[in-house]
Amino acid sequence: MIKRTSALSNLNYKKVFLCFLLFQVMCIVVFLIQPNLTFNLQKIYRILLKIIKRRDNKTILIWNSPNRIETAAFGLGHEPFVQHGCEVSTCVVFDNTSVLPLEDYDAIIVNIQELWKIGMPSFNRQKHQRLVFLTQESPTTLPYIEYHLVENLFNWTMSYKLNSDVLLLYGRIRPGPKAPTNLADTHKMMEEMHLQSARNYAANKTRQVVWMASHCNTKSLRETYVRELSKFISVDVYGGCGNFSCDRNGTHWLSHPECYDKLEAEYKFYLSFENSICTDYATEKFFEILKRRMIPVVYGGANYSAIAPHHSYINVLDFETPEKLAQYLRFLDENDMFYNEYFWWKEHYQVEAGVDQMARHGFCDLCKKLHQEEEVIKYYPELISEWHPSTQCKYFNSWERTTTSTSTTSTIPTTPTSSTTQSITTSTIAPNCTNITDIQKSPRLHKKLLGYVMQRLLP
Ligand SMILES: *[C@@H]1O[C@H](CO)[C@@H](O)[C@H](O)[C@H]1NC(C)=O
Ligand SMILES: *[C@@H]1O[C@H](CO)[C@@H](O)[C@H](O)[C@H]1NC(C)=O
Ligand SMILES: *[C@@H]1O[C@H](CO)[C@@H](O)[C@H](O)[C@H]1NC(C)=O
Ligand SMILES: *[C@@H]1O[C@H](CO)[C@@H](O)[C@H](O)[C@H]1NC(C)=O
Ligand SMILES: *[C@@H]1O[C@H](CO)[C@@H](O)[C@H](O)[C@H]1NC(C)=O
Ligand SMILES: *[C@@H]1O[C@H](CO)[C@@H](O)[C@H](O)[C@H]1NC(C)=O
Ligand SMILES: *[C@@H]1O[C@H](CO)[C@@H](O)[C@H](O)[C@H]1NC(C)=O
Ligand SMILES: *[C@@H]1O[C@H](CO)[C@@H](O)[C@H](O)[C@H]1NC(C)=O
Ligand SMILES: *[C@@H]1O[C@H](CO)[C@@H](O)[C@H](O)[C@H]1NC(C)=O
Repeated sequence: MIKRTSALSNLNYKKVFLCFLLFQVMCIVVFLIQPNLTFNLQKIYRILLKIIKRRDNKTILIWNSPNRIETAAFGLGHEPFVQHGCEVSTCVVFDNTSVLPLEDYDAIIVNIQELWKIGMPSFNRQKHQRLVFLTQESPTTLPYIEYHLVENLFNWTMSYKLNSDVLLLYGRIRPGPKAPTNLADTHKMMEEMHLQSARNYAANKTRQVVWMASHCNTKSLRETYVRELSKFISVDVYGGCGNFSCDRNGTHWLSHPECYDKLEAEYKFYLSFENSICTDYATEKFFEILKRRMIPVVYGGANYSAIAPHHSYINVLDFETPEKLAQYLRFLDENDMFYNEYFWWKEHYQVEAGVDQMARHGFCDLCKKLHQEEEVIKYYPELISEWHPSTQCKYFNSWERTTTSTSTTSTIPTTPTSSTTQSITTSTIAPNCTNITDIQKSPRLHKKLLGYVMQRLLP
């Protein structure tokens, strides 16, 4: 069929045929010299058959840095495609450039992050081959690339950016069968969090905000935000940037599940602050926390409303200042009912996070695309517009203020969705609503609060 011929180019036919011919000649020569030596011709045929058969599998080469976790997490060869249950599993991954000639691979993945180590592959590009631009880092941390040198070169991109040809995401959130499809249903589910039977996510929590980081001087200046924020609300800093550490496993605390177990039992808010504020760049700092019982407070360049359920996180950039954010967090800290609303979605959505799902989706999708889009020609005339920090990332000045207004904070801060709403003082709405039971006991108070919630949430 046409499909088959495009995979098995004329060149390969010739190669295989020549190989075969060579063997025949060798056989005869050896046979003439040493008549007693018998060759297992069947074995040779089998090897040749294998070479031909391999063309049904798409071959993928990881050109450089195959040990980086975003590619290594998948595995090598053909088996991982089967093990991971890929929809299309007829692919083979190689990390050894000398197994096949470069001209033979269907896809060659170039990890831009560490390209400087060995440079671009140089070979005679074949029509069917895809050169894949891969990165999991934001443009601010990508090394300087001479973009003009990579013009008209790459066919596909594979990254965290949502417009990539193959998505390599730090996490994803899938709606379940009972997830709401409109805002009214969403609000109804949020209200259900007020019921006494609903889980109280604030139960037993004694601490307010936690941040965990070891990279303390970043392009995003998140560290200045944390310092400013901590003037108005208690922020415990774990890791290299602070004085706290998870004492369970000193060496692996960063990714250690028990550390998160400990944090989610004690803290109400987790600062999911990215090290750079770039388009679509939302990392495991966000997705791992969504799996937990803490509210992620995000600081990043992703369009969070497009990737996470409504009212499941708090965005720093929706607040004018760290002080205003602190006021809002304190309000939630004191009002369990409002705190719990941020967890309304938990039972209706599934969160996937981590490098394993990242690599699995990435390679399964790549394999499928290689098979499905055999005849599709695509390449990028340039990639600078998509990957230059000046267009893809935002920069802020330090968030720290030397002189801070020490206003008394009896007002509920204006909230993300309605910054124009008049500020409402706590005493006019919910004098003593620190406790769900109190609210449920007083229908009048309950109604008043609901009114406030709706006013806050409706656009
Ligand atoms: C793909 O490769 C694997 C391992 O080399 C082999 O077992 C399998 O039969 C191949 N599949 C096809 C369709 O060629
Ligand atoms: C790559 O493959 C060649 C030939 O099969 C082998 O000699 C070499 O050791 C391999 N390199 C690595 C790093 O596995
Ligand atoms: C809070 O602590 C109590 C007593 O230790 C325990 O029974 C309960 O399950 C805890 N609640 C949550 C939500 O962890
Ligand atoms: C860590 O502790 C020292 C000494 O108590 C204090 O000066 C410093 O501000 C603390 N750092 C943070 C990030 O809390
Ligand atoms: C720390 O983590 C390592 C690797 O995950 C594990 O082997 C070790 O047992 C852990 N130590 C403790 C005290 O949990
Ligand atoms: C963010 O995503 C939402 C929901 O998909 C969309 O309506 C909105 O236009 C997006 N905002 C930006 C700035 O792209
Ligand atoms: C891949 O990109 C090159 C240009 O860099 C182009 O010539 C070739 O046609 C593209 N191949 C496919 C299959 O899209
Ligand atoms: C709220 O608490 C104050 C004292 O802290 C009390 O005087 C007032 O009656 C309470 N209001 C309600 C509605 O329970
Ligand atoms: C909430 O209020 C009820 C009744 O007023 C009381 O029994 C309970 O201890 C309170 N819970 C908290 C956490 O204050």
